[in-house]
Amino acid sequence: MSESGTALIQGDFNVDLSSQESVEKTDVPAKKCRVTPIHLRPDLLLPCADLVNSEWKRSRAARVHSLQKSCPDFPVCLLLLLQSPREAERLLGHARLSRVVGQDDSLLVESVVVSEAERGRGYGRTLMEETELYARGRGFKRLCLSTHDKQRFYAHLGYTPSAPVQNAGAMASFVPTETLLRFSGVTNGGVGVQDQRDAPVRDGTSLPPPPPPPPPPLSFIPPRPETPYRDVKGMSVFWMHKNL
Ligand SMILES: CC(C)(COP(=O)(O)OP(=O)(O)OC[C@H]1O[C@@H](n2cnc3c(N)ncnc32)[C@H](O)[C@@H]1OP(=O)(O)O)[C@@H](O)C(=O)NCCC(=O)NCCS
Repeated sequence: MSESGTALIQGDFNVDLSSQESVEKTDVPAKKCRVTPIHLRPDLLLPCADLVNSEWKRSRAARVHSLQKSCPDFPVCLLLLLQSPREAERLLGHARLSRVVGQDDSLLVESVVVSEAERGRGYGRTLMEETELYARGRGFKRLCLSTHDKQRFYAHLGYTPSAPVQNAGAMASFVPTETLLRFSGVTNGGVGVQDQRDAPVRDGTSLPPPPPPPPPPLSFIPPRPETPYRDVKGMSVFWMHKNL
C-alpha cells in the first residue's frame, strides 16, 4: 500500500481471473479495468482492507474479517483492478453488494471507494458501471444505495431518489422476510424507520400534542430539507436507486 492509499499489487498473477464471476472492460488502450470478487483474490485481502479503511477507519483485522464474508451467494465484495502489460496490477476501488430484504431483484451497494490518489480520473464511474454490469450479469434488475454527501455523484450516474431498503445480511438466510421487514422498520412500501420515529403517537394514552411553535420572523426562510431520511445519528441520508 503506498502512502497515498493506492495499493500496488506485486503478488501472484497466476490466479484465474477469467472466471464467469469477473466482468472485464477496456477503458484505455492496453489498460484493462475489471471488477473481480475478492473471494477469487484472497491475496488482495490486506490491500483491500487498507483501501476501505483509508476512508472508513476500523481495525485491519475487523476489516479483513468483514471482507472474508464475500462469497458467490452474497455479500460480494468487488475489487476494481487496473491491469496493463508493463505495470504491476493495481487495486483502484472497492464496492460491496448484498441482497435486499423483500426485493429479490435488487442489490444494495455499499462501501464504494476509489483510492484517494486516483480520484477524479473516471475510476469511480468505472467502478459503478462495472458493478452494475456484474449485478446485471447475476440477474438483478436494480441497485440501491444510501449516501450522506455523494448524492450528486450518483445522480450524475443515473441514480434517482428512492425509499430506504434493508440490507439482508446473514440473517436473511434463516429469518422469514416478513419478520426481517417488521424488525428493520422498512415496510414493503419502503418507508424507513426514520419516518416511523417521527410519526405522531396515535394511541389513546399519549399526551396531547404540544402547541405549535410561534411563526418565525419574516426574514427567516427555513431551508427545504433535501431528503426526508436521517440515520441513527440524525444526519441526512439520501436513498437512491437505479434500474439496470
Ligand atoms: C465518490 C468516489 C467513489 C468518486 O470516485 P471518482 O473516481 O473521484 O469519480 P469519477 O472521477 O469517476 O467521477 C465520475 C463522474 O462523477 C462526477 N463526480 C465525481 N464526484 C462528484 C461529486 N461529489 N459531485 C458531483 N459529481 C461528481 C465527475 O465529475 C465525473 O463526471 P464525468 O464522468 O461526466 O466526467 C470517490 O470520490 C471516493 O472514493 N470518495 C470517498 C468515499 C466515498 O465517499 N464513497 C461514497 C460513499 S456513499
